[in-house]
Amino acid sequence: QAATMRLNENILLLGKKVVLVPYTSEHVPRYHEWMKSEELQRLTASEPLTLEQEYSMQQSWREDADKCTFIVMDAEKWQAQPRTTEESCMAGDVNLFLTDPGEPSLGEIEVMIAEPSCRGKGFGTEAVLMMMSYGVTKLGLTKFEAKIGQGNEPSIRMFRKLHFEQVAVSSVFQEVTLRLTVTEHERQWLLEQTSHVEEKRYRDGLSESR
Ligand SMILES: CC(C)(COP(=O)(O)OP(=O)(O)OC[C@H]1O[C@@H](n2cnc3c(N)ncnc32)[C@H](O)[C@@H]1OP(=O)(O)O)[C@@H](O)C(=O)NCCC(=O)NCCS
Repeated sequence: QAATMRLNENILLLGKKVVLVPYTSEHVPRYHEWMKSEELQRLTASEPLTLEQEYSMQQSWREDADKCTFIVMDAEKWQAQPRTTEESCMAGDVNLFLTDPGEPSLGEIEVMIAEPSCRGKGFGTEAVLMMMSYGVTKLGLTKFEAKIGQGNEPSIRMFRKLHFEQVAVSSVFQEVTLRLTVTEHERQWLLEQTSHVEEKRYRDGLSESR
């Protein structure tokens, strides 16, 4: 199971508003710029890294057996012709972690729409739906958790709209845990929500079919 997390290395997922592509070194400079924002550091509970640390982080994520990362691209920009650089289409990222070796069907999901101009347009929603559908169909996941800072109302609302329910509050970490159990009904809903998504081969920033 664990080794399957490298499954997304050569694929991209094409949605309506966003395209999910694997996180490569090409994406690191923009990612690093985003993470200089104190607001994003606070909202995502991240420590600032040097550019060099960010490159090694990208490398280790890629090799990590229990993590799956996609960069969220603005689909409209990404599909425009003539093609702009992939870096200029980046909107954020979405991650899945297998946090509990004793519970391999549980995935922790994280999303960040880092580009302010990309927020509030449904990008976060579609990215999470696509990632959950990927987790269910490719990784055999049946439960998702999101840990969100107590004050992060936009994120809490988004996950609630995606059928997550609050299961715990940590006053120590000032975060809430939301959970979604994928029943047969939820599975059908998820697959319907993502029935438009196409999987393609991804190589060096290019979709082979273009
Ligand atoms: C939270 C976040 C992922 C939402 O993504 P998004 O693409 O902006 O959100 P969407 O457009 O898909 O909106 C989905 C729902 O989220 C909620 N939401 C989004 N932005 C909101 C805001 N500014 N205020 C209140 N609710 C908001 C709404 O319920 C919205 O549904 P609606 O439009 O029908 O009201 C994104 O704003 C973000 O990354 N913020 C900064 C980093 C962060 O907080 N990450 C989460 C860490 S766990």
